[in-house]
Amino acid sequence: GAPVEVDISKLGPGEMTTVEWQGKPVWIMRRTPAQMESLAAMADKLADPKSERNPSEFTPEYARNDLRAREDHKDILVVVAICTHLGCSPSGPFESGSNAQLGADAGFVCPCHGSTFDLSGRVFKAKPAPDNLKVPPFMFLSDTRILVG
Ligand code: FES
Repeated sequence: GAPVEVDISKLGPGEMTTVEWQGKPVWIMRRTPAQMESLAAMADKLADPKSERNPSEFTPEYARNDLRAREDHKDILVVVAICTHLGCSPSGPFESGSNAQLGADAGFVCPCHGSTFDLSGRVFKAKPAPDNLKVPPFMFLSDTRILVG
């Protein structure tokens, strides 16, 4: 499928938008400084904090870091919004303390079998989803335009 160009100039801190790429929903979220800070301290709660499982399938090399982001725009998360368990659509983002399944953490929840993901799309430990949410190929055309695919 063709790459999709997305204007993120109106995406404020903490906000997310959904675009379609190759028939799949893709989330683009701008994390706040506080959210980014908390993501750096999540490792012991996560199944694959460094995105080392199936990296070629799920995380491009430039996104194998705590924020799963490109170095030049660390606040921007781009992930395919399809649970890696059986393909349901997770919901969120939920703020810290606003969802019982996430508890004190912020992130996303899959309604089908309860997998939970942090704000980098990394799956929490002991959940049915085997992998982190997929980061599709993406690049910045400018500070406000992303090319997905
Ligand atoms: Fe998401 Fe099973 S499909 S937890």
